[in-house]
Amino acid sequence: MPQEILEAGEEPEALLYEESLQDEDVSPMDLSELLKEGTKESHERAENTQFVKDFLKGRIKRELFKLATTALYFTYSALEEEIERNKEHPAFAPLYFPLELHRTDALVKDLTYFYGEDWKDKIQCSQATKHYVERIHHIGHQEPELLVAHAYTRYMGDLSGGQVLKKVAQRALHLPSTGEGTQFYCFDNVSNAQQFKQLYRARMNALDLDNSTKARIVEEANKAFQFNMQVFDELDKIGATLVEEIQDGGLPVHDGKGDIRKCPYYVGKQGAGETSGCPFHVALAVFRHPTVQFLFAATIAAAAGVLAWYLM
Ligand code: HEM
Repeated sequence: MPQEILEAGEEPEALLYEESLQDEDVSPMDLSELLKEGTKESHERAENTQFVKDFLKGRIKRELFKLATTALYFTYSALEEEIERNKEHPAFAPLYFPLELHRTDALVKDLTYFYGEDWKDKIQCSQATKHYVERIHHIGHQEPELLVAHAYTRYMGDLSGGQVLKKVAQRALHLPSTGEGTQFYCFDNVSNAQQFKQLYRARMNALDLDNSTKARIVEEANKAFQFNMQVFDELDKIGATLVEEIQDGGLPVHDGKGDIRKCPYYVGKQGAGETSGCPFHVALAVFRHPTVQFLFAATIAAAAGVLAWYLM
């Protein structure tokens, strides 16, 4: 049953989880099981992309996080546009949860935080995101029975890892714990993510689909994972070209102890929205560059040679 669209000022009804799936209800031919099993390998591959691994370790530059947020904005705008188009289609209607799941408004808030009020003029859709977006629009127009695959891949994933990723981003980028910049990860209208996922699985299983359509949905979900991985790979390549920033995970302290945020240079620059200008950090950052390290080693070797020749 689709969620009702609310009038302005109307309170959302609390979601009941009574139809949630219990473990003993599951059969191998249920769509939720077919999807979980059928995308296992893709999931593993996605988890092991460099971008995702770096993100989880807190190795994410602010500029790259902004680009990742931008990619998500274009993806969810397309996905939610197609969901709106198909909200009464029998192969999607029971999965229409705009209040609980939709992310576009949250992403607009995050982009406003990062880029300012004129965020729309400052962002563009990357090549890999464009391919993903085109596929979502194609599905929404031509094969709406497969839209569930795209919704599943994103929303179930977001509900599974959102809180962890939010904490990682907040810590690594010093984003406010009050949620500015990480609204995407907050599902304010989902009180229990685990139960909501069970409800979503039950709704997927109740769709009236023949086996060949179920197989096409699993295939499409694997494509959705593939599109996500292409976006991650693209971000990873862009990340490698960005100037190294001093991060919490990388160089937190002057002497191996203490908190970088207490460094007066660092605090001053943070306020101005720039990267650290602390002379110690700048010197270390310069020294971490391979060319500088090579020149340093070559100079030491040459000096040692001259000294040895002089002493002989
Ligand atoms: C290192 C990165 C990731 C980790 C550690 C992770 C972890 C998890 C875990 C623990 C679950 C199981 C949750 C549960 O059963 O309640 C899950 C489910 C899921 N994840 Fe991820 N995930 C990662 C990345 C991704 C990515 C990049 C995507 C897709 C873009 C994704 C999509 C999904 C989906 C669709 C599910 C639901 C599976 C199902 O129950 O059918 N995940 N993830």
